[in-house]
Amino acid sequence: MTVMTKPETTNTRAIVDAPTLTPNATRKPKLISVEEAKVMDVARMTDLFKAHQNPGQLHFMKLLGFHKIKVERAEGMYYIDQNGRKILDFFGGFGSLAFGHNHPRLLEARKKFQDEKRHEIAIAFMSQYQAAFAHNLAACSPGDLDMVFLGSSGSEAMEAAVKLAERAAGPKRPKIVYAENSFHGKTKGVLAITDGQLYRGEFKLTGNTVKVPFGDIDAIENAFKSDPEIGVIVLETIQGGGGIVQAAPEFWTKLRALCDQYGVIWVADEVQCGYGRTGRFYAFEHYNVVPDITALAKSLGGGKTAMGAMIAKRDIFMKAYGTPKTAMIHAPATFGGMGEACATSIEALNVLYDEGLIDNAADVGDYLLDRLNALKAKYPQIIKDVRGRGLMVGLEFQDFSQTLPMVLRPVVGMLDDKLKGSLSGFVGALLLRDYDCLVAFTEYNRNVIRLEPPLICQREHVDIFVDALDKLLGRGIISIVKDFVKSQVT
Ligand SMILES: Cc1ncc(COP(=O)(O)O)c(C=O)c1O
Repeated sequence: MTVMTKPETTNTRAIVDAPTLTPNATRKPKLISVEEAKVMDVARMTDLFKAHQNPGQLHFMKLLGFHKIKVERAEGMYYIDQNGRKILDFFGGFGSLAFGHNHPRLLEARKKFQDEKRHEIAIAFMSQYQAAFAHNLAACSPGDLDMVFLGSSGSEAMEAAVKLAERAAGPKRPKIVYAENSFHGKTKGVLAITDGQLYRGEFKLTGNTVKVPFGDIDAIENAFKSDPEIGVIVLETIQGGGGIVQAAPEFWTKLRALCDQYGVIWVADEVQCGYGRTGRFYAFEHYNVVPDITALAKSLGGGKTAMGAMIAKRDIFMKAYGTPKTAMIHAPATFGGMGEACATSIEALNVLYDEGLIDNAADVGDYLLDRLNALKAKYPQIIKDVRGRGLMVGLEFQDFSQTLPMVLRPVVGMLDDKLKGSLSGFVGALLLRDYDCLVAFTEYNRNVIRLEPPLICQREHVDIFVDALDKLLGRGIISIVKDFVKSQVT
């Protein structure tokens, strides 16, 4: 038999019968070191981003002025850029920075873990850190939400939730109900229940889904009644990507009752709204209901590490994976529950309660909503709505034509759909350029800016932010547009 071997290059090892290589025979490519990365300037970062990451995305960074910034440090509520400028973070990584940047207790926990040379990958042996973290998550969760699956992202946690729900519902009930304007992640499974044409692209997604308007209990009841194949419903408790949208409080009690009546498994996606952000550990706790399965991510790793978790009722979990035969169907992936990530997340949960951050989110969140509502009253032509709970707040601008003098409205009104998001973009870009404040934008309702500052946020930070927004809006729309256009040419 002829053995095929790959032609030798400087960079490729032969598959069989490799000649014995001298220790340094494999040429090291030209690699950038950590120290070189640290001192890289913005121009080089841009070149590399274009060459190796996402050239198209740079277009949006340029519109917002993000492309000029190199973050040198980040601490508490602030980023510090290459010029020593402090940028107030009201974006908060879409809710990933409950503790602000580099909380000292989290740094310390990580350092200790490293100094003690603890083990990371826990596949062969059990991990005391995983065990403790799973225990803590169950302790923070109401009812019998006791079984925990650990992953590295919100999408992974949601994939785990949907797979568990599907198995527990059984093969005769494979259909999943999801909501208009939902966002549950970008991996291929949960894309099927993520209602964004942009993200769905033209991927071939699973077809076993039924879409209903968010918060519409009658539509859900009709779906459950008319289609006995429905076994699962997946909803964000507060829609983030949809533009910070809440259902009526009574919706949730009715939903729980309907799920019980029809034997449908309810998955509550708390990836963005959970973990204390709304003033309760889970947002669904405001409504005194408990879902069958839930998912957390974002701040779960303390803003220092990638951590996602699915938490399920024990009976549901046991139905799906409760025997030795079924246990490995969806056991965690390689990095699920890495040692240092678990140690960080254990410390983070302790800090969340020790520092009273959940109550702080409720208190400072109310203050933020009050101050923004006062701005809405001051600028009714510009601000359409202010909404949210705790430190998960949306500020919706009027359609662009409505912000202009009466005579211009009919003509510009025809372009409103195309101009969606433009005012959010102008305001976001100028808040950063002129007032050192960072805000987040919204996938579906692009007229909404999202405010999800760290849960350590104090009233003084709210004052800095709202005063800046007040000054900016006080310039008037025409000046805001002119200033934005100028920012694009300078
Ligand atoms: C509600 C919700 N679910 C799931 C996800 C996916 O999380 P990740 O980006 O960590 O995969 C997100 C992310 O924004 C989210 O907001």
